[in-house]
Amino acid sequence: MKKKITLIGAGQIGGTLAHLIALKELADVVLFDVAAGIAKGKALDIAQSSPVNGFNVNLIGTDNYEDTKNSDVVIITAGVPRKPGMTRDDLLGINLKIIKQVAEGIKKTSPNAFVICITNPLDVIVMALQKYSGLPKNKVVGMAGILDSSRFIYFLSEELKVPVQKIKSLVLGGHGDSMVAMLEFTEVLGKKIKDLVKEGKITSERLSQIVERTKKGGAEIVKYLEKGSAYYAPAASGVEMAESYLKNLKKQLPCAAYLDGEYGIKGIYAGVPVIIGSEGVEKVVELDLSNDEKSQFENSINAVKDLFDAAKKIDSSLS
Ligand code: APR
Repeated sequence: MKKKITLIGAGQIGGTLAHLIALKELADVVLFDVAAGIAKGKALDIAQSSPVNGFNVNLIGTDNYEDTKNSDVVIITAGVPRKPGMTRDDLLGINLKIIKQVAEGIKKTSPNAFVICITNPLDVIVMALQKYSGLPKNKVVGMAGILDSSRFIYFLSEELKVPVQKIKSLVLGGHGDSMVAMLEFTEVLGKKIKDLVKEGKITSERLSQIVERTKKGGAEIVKYLEKGSAYYAPAASGVEMAESYLKNLKKQLPCAAYLDGEYGIKGIYAGVPVIIGSEGVEKVVELDLSNDEKSQFENSINAVKDLFDAAKKIDSSLS
């Protein structure tokens, strides 16, 4: 039977997700938005490209949760994106309210779905979503690490003139300015990046600049676009998670997952490598971090905790 993916939010990321899912024939697509016309218009526009691109999936747009019923996967981008000069954290108050409505909607209609959250500030919003909806923690996960890692790998590829496919890396922690590029786990053509520094292929200053650019990768795009934030790379990253779940690929992917003692952290969502298969988040992979990586990671977790405390002040039901 054909799978069903619901996209809550049919804005820039939602529309791009719908297009990518259709091109890959991953599932039928329901685009849901409070602005029903946007959802319907985008669904129709993408459907009209099916004869040209030769895909065979059903696409509809709606503002009625009944149409999203029994989805296999729900990807959430409902919310407000950043404006130039804003941090993701500035979106907390408004997006928290939106996510509460969304949680109510999906828990009634798709309680068995694998739910991927993209709305920012990511780690806190995904945690609130899990609390509001009461859905199992292994079925509620946030998209950030794949995007941040992908940005870092792209920048390294440009700098070192090495194809992206030959670079491995991952960025963990919260999806904010404190995110941590794991240099001990960064390899270019099978060599550790730190060895390339030793060999003089890249200076440590240049590497630090690339790490900084990665942390501010989203803001760089917000500044260029002037209206709205990044959507092609975020959507591609969300699709990779959905595909690993639907096809039981058991890929190891950096995602915002619930930590229950892993990395010595309990009761909070943050970016870690996880295995995604047909059970959802099947495992949190615990990497052996260097002391430096560990302290940066803990610092990032503390930033997420502080923001969650701010969320609790906005809505005491999160306590
Ligand atoms: N239910 C459903 N959809 C909603 C709701 C709601 N309660 N509130 C707002 N929306 C819809 C808006 O109508 C809009 O179409 O969410 C959509 C968001 O789309 P964009 O404004 O284009 O934002 P986008 O770039 O897609 O980013 C969405 O993801 O990466 C994050 O920071 C980003 O939080 C932002 C989110």
